[in-house]
Order: sequence, then C-alpha cells, then structure tokens
Amino acid sequence: MYNLLKGKKGIIFGALDENSIAWKVAERAHEEGAEFVLTNAPIAMRMGGIKDLAAKTGSEIIPADATSMDDLNNLVEKSMEILGGKIDFVLHSIGMSVNVRKGKHYTDSNYDFTTKGWDVSAVSFHKVMNVLYNKQAMNEWGSIVALTYMAAQRVFPDYNDMADNKAYLESIARSFGYFFGRDHKVRVNTISQSPTPTTAGQGVKGFDGFISYAEKMSPLGNATALECADYTISLFSDLTKKVTLQNLFHDGGFSNMGVSDSVMERFIEE
Ligand code: NAI
Repeated sequence: MYNLLKGKKGIIFGALDENSIAWKVAERAHEEGAEFVLTNAPIAMRMGGIKDLAAKTGSEIIPADATSMDDLNNLVEKSMEILGGKIDFVLHSIGMSVNVRKGKHYTDSNYDFTTKGWDVSAVSFHKVMNVLYNKQAMNEWGSIVALTYMAAQRVFPDYNDMADNKAYLESIARSFGYFFGRDHKVRVNTISQSPTPTTAGQGVKGFDGFISYAEKMSPLGNATALECADYTISLFSDLTKKVTLQNLFHDGGFSNMGVSDSVMERFIEE
C-alpha cells in the first residue's frame, strides 16, 4: 500500500455485494488511507451486504436513489458533515437497464423502460455532478470517475440500450468536466472496463461467451474488478492531476485489437 489517498475524503456509489467494482474500490481506498461515505439505492441496501463493507472500512452509509435530486442533496450535505469538509473523490458505479431486465429486445424497446434506464445509468451522473458543483462540495484537484463500457463506441448486440446509456454517460463526463475543471479545478473521467462478473455484468445476455471472447482477444487478458479498483485509485490520487475529460480504456488492450492468434485459431480450417 502506498498511502495514495491519505487524508482524502470521498463518496462511493454502487457497492452492492463483494463482486461489485465499487466494493473493491472502497476496500482499496480504505487501504490507501481515504475516508468515505458509501451510498446505494435504498432497495439495494436490503439485498446486498453493504453494512459489512461499512464496518470493514469504518464508513457510514447514506441511502440515495441516484435519480432523486432530494436524495443527492441530502447525501452530499450529510457526507460533508460526516467527513468534516469538502470531498476529494467521487465514484459513480451505477448501471441498470429495465429493457435488459425484462428481456425486451433492442429493436422492440419499451420507451418507459428506456427512459428509466437512461435516468439511472446516465443522467444520474449529471445529477450527482450538478449537486456537487452547485454546493461547491468538491476540493480543488478533486477527481470524479464513472464506469463505462466499450459498447458506447462499438456494437455489442446484447448490450441493448445500455450501449446508448454509456455513450450519453461518457458525453456528460466531457461536458460537465469542462465546467468543473474551469471553475473548480476538478477532473472528470470515465473508465471503460473489461466485462466483469458482477450482478450488473451477468445481467447481460450471453455474458459467459462475451467474457471469454474478450479474454482471448486481449493481449493482457480481461481486467478484473480489483484491477479496475487499482486504476480508479490512481485517478483519485494526486499522481493524475491533469488527466480530465477522458474515456480511459482499462481492458487488457481489447479496444485496440482487430483479431488475436487465439481467436483466429478457431476459424482456421485444418
Ligand atoms: P453491480 O451490479 O455490482 O453495481 C451496479 C450498482 O448500481 C448496484 O450497486 C446498484 O444497486 C446500483 N444502482 C442501480 N440503480 C440505482 C439507483 N437508482 N441509485 C443508486 N444506485 C443504483 O455491478 P458492477 O459491474 O460493479 O457495475 C458498476 C458499474 O460498472 C456500472 O456502471 C456498470 O455498467 C459498469 N461496468 C460494468 C462492467 C461489467 O461487465 N460488470 C463492464 C464495464 C462497466
């Protein structure tokens, strides 16, 4: 451990269970000396083991539906009280598609579901930053990170409307990141992570095929949730102060591959 986040205060959204990427980020942030508040949707509190994570990391939990401005205002105010000052880092690790959950095909979307999923997965990031910005809740040289997936740029048919949500999310990072950088010297980035076996990940149809294909295509193999947490910590640390408005691929090299030998082997006829 390197004490990379010593004295830093944060808010971590999205730790549902021990597989969650946010869970690993919380564990690593704790190891690196940070103090933080954990938050998740009220319904997720009942399902997951977030209380165990809070006990382990000495954190408090404040429930918040990330689509509710009232909940977010309360979250940010209470977090500053608990942590005794402004915030240095925020992780947005939230995704959900109602069309995926209900098995609606992309070509036959239910638009109430589309709107709900877009609000939860993308607009919530705007809402979180709106509250942080207008309450002047971030310290200078603070860092805000959201998690995304490469279906924002390329076609992965079963990713459904989450592809569109991720494209929107990445755009918000740039658009809001400009104002946050200009006015408060805060950086905003997205990390585009490999397929990872979590509750959200495994909700994608054909996930097993998807994850093993990515593994075979990537020269370094898929990035794990823990490796994603390590990368996130680096973006929260003072070692990356001038990195902003970026979509950063954390995928073992997958995004720049055309084809790999091990994938080709499957198509070469003897
Ligand atoms: P996860 O299922 O553990 O986390 C998703 C979280 O979103 C849960 O904690 C859930 O309670 C929370 N959430 C849902 N609705 C919410 C709401 N209204 N308000 C507040 N929180 C809400 O899964 P995972 O994989 O850790 O997901 C974290 C992020 O990483 C998501 O943005 C996901 O799209 C992204 N990601 C995941 C990949 C994967 O293959 N697992 C790949 C690339 C990105």
